[in-house]
Amino acid sequence: MDFEHLEFGKQISDHMLVCDYFNEQWHEAEIVPFAHLSLSPATLAFHYGQTVFEGMKAFRMQDGSANIFRIDKHYDRFVRSLDRMCMAVPPREIFVEGLKQLINLDRNWIPTQDNCALYLRPFVIATEKFLGVRVSTDYRFIIITSPVPSTFAKAIKLKVETDYIRAAPGGTGFAKCGGNYGGAFYPTQLARQQGYDQVLWTNAGENNFIEESGMMNIMFVIEDKLITPPLSDTILDGVTRDSLLTIARTLGYKTEERPVSLDELESSFRNNTISEAFGAGTAAVVAPVKTISIHGTDFHLPEYSHENLSAKLKLNLEQIRTGRAEDIYGWNSII
Ligand SMILES: Cc1ncc(COP(=O)(O)O)c(C=O)c1O
Repeated sequence: MDFEHLEFGKQISDHMLVCDYFNEQWHEAEIVPFAHLSLSPATLAFHYGQTVFEGMKAFRMQDGSANIFRIDKHYDRFVRSLDRMCMAVPPREIFVEGLKQLINLDRNWIPTQDNCALYLRPFVIATEKFLGVRVSTDYRFIIITSPVPSTFAKAIKLKVETDYIRAAPGGTGFAKCGGNYGGAFYPTQLARQQGYDQVLWTNAGENNFIEESGMMNIMFVIEDKLITPPLSDTILDGVTRDSLLTIARTLGYKTEERPVSLDELESSFRNNTISEAFGAGTAAVVAPVKTISIHGTDFHLPEYSHENLSAKLKLNLEQIRTGRAEDIYGWNSII
């Protein structure tokens, strides 16, 4: 394994956890060598979208131990996503103990390089063999892991999307279900063809307020305040978003979780009151933004510097989860 040249999502570690639900109960979880699955083509997950996943990370601590970051917050979100998709929920104990034992076994897969981590992908799929459209009776819970670098090491360009939407009120936007991502590919591909890295989603209908970006929540620094759209049923409750807001408050910065309109964003560029914009997510951690296109006009942000609030927050977060700073929030689960 060449840890110096990691690519996100390419290498999968040696083992996986597998646990099946049938006859209305979860059965014994097993950790087995990573292997292909054998499933009927009539398996419900292939047809009607009952698939839910989590994305989290384990870090190598300074003393050599392993740390799973904010396991409980990820589990709670997993439960909310599964409930929304009418899927069986693996018990917390299987999730937590399963992750710990899996990482303990594959601990040599946790990279030690700066900004690298072991990405953890717990997911549930509907496994009943049935072609009719209805809720599955059977499920499989699987955890696989993958050594990764942070994505978006370079500053990115975002296109505010006003023609397509990712989520609508009453929909599944707050859930980490596969369909949300499938539906986002087409507008994202269009944005890529136009030279942008990701879209910045807006609210369904009026398309006049910012929601979030591809696999990240969005944060702005306007007049020295850290501002991010409030959580709702159309925005994923990002663990990184919450962590960065918490750290910012501890460091004494003003934070605001409130709607951000396109008009406000555009005026903040025209008045030079916006100093930073960045995406916040498990994969990227902090992705500095260099350009935002609003209604076809590119607005540029100052060059990213280590003096930026986003850089300070990122450093603080990295220090906590690698044991270089005290975990005053109780976010680490040390193995
Ligand atoms: C749509 C979406 N929004 C936001 C996030 C950021 O969430 P987190 O910080 O928990 O990774 C993600 C990534 O998981 C995502 O897929």
